Amino acid sequence: MSDASDAVAEVAAALGTRWLGRAHRHHAETGSTNDDAAAWAAAGAPHGALVTADAQHAGRGRLGRAWHSPAGSHVYASVVLRPTTADARWSALGLAIGVGLRDGLRDGLLGASLEIGLKWPNDLLVGDRKLAGILCEARWIGGAPQIVVGFGINVRRQAWPAELRARAVTLEEMTGAAHRPAEVLVAVLEALEPVLDEFGARGFAGLRERYESACVSLGRVVRVSEADGRATEVFAAALDHDGALLVRDPGASRLRRVEAGELLMP
Ligand code: BTN
Repeated sequence: MSDASDAVAEVAAALGTRWLGRAHRHHAETGSTNDDAAAWAAAGAPHGALVTADAQHAGRGRLGRAWHSPAGSHVYASVVLRPTTADARWSALGLAIGVGLRDGLRDGLLGASLEIGLKWPNDLLVGDRKLAGILCEARWIGGAPQIVVGFGINVRRQAWPAELRARAVTLEEMTGAAHRPAEVLVAVLEALEPVLDEFGARGFAGLRERYESACVSLGRVVRVSEADGRATEVFAAALDHDGALLVRDPGASRLRRVEAGELLMP
């Protein structure tokens, strides 16, 4: 994709969604599609508005990390969501997005041939290497919640920088198939829309089983880094109704909730 209007037309011609991605802006290069989507949302973008780019020079990941975003090879996308309720269940939105991205990649694109795992809370993995990541950012504008969900999917074979070489993977490296980023984007948007409809109607509860069955973090001892920066070794037992991780500390009999954090796999 290079010319912005061609890129928008290519997606529009293939996309079978009702509301997700129907308003779409594309950039050949931008700082961060999450920033573009937030600015568009502040200026009145509709629910489901989509921003994509061929390249980002300030792509960001969770916990203040950079998201490597070279030109033309991968999906960089951000969606504006305008929840009609402001309740706490939106805290599990990133987990719901993970379910939708995985469905789109497996069922819409690859025919379930690639085993994609969900690492709590927001990563898609193949084996122990990262295929996709999700960044949810919320703001209050004029008393109404406005959420931007950004996701990056590694699509084409890639000469990774040294620090990512052992940790990142692309669809092409795993399957040999050289999909176009636009084709991957359409597949995941079409799977995401019903997942977001379900999430908006009933919250995470209706998606929990699907998340758990694909989650590679459960039923094992993991190192978890929590809000205070401490990293501890715990047994990851299950997910709570709202997506919090239920863990057992060494020697403890009761489970406790981890609402936010990062798993450092052992
Ligand atoms: C993570 O795994 O840490 C989250 C990565 C999210 C990357 C995407 S790429 C599109 C959007 N724009 C950004 O700057 N970040 C997200």
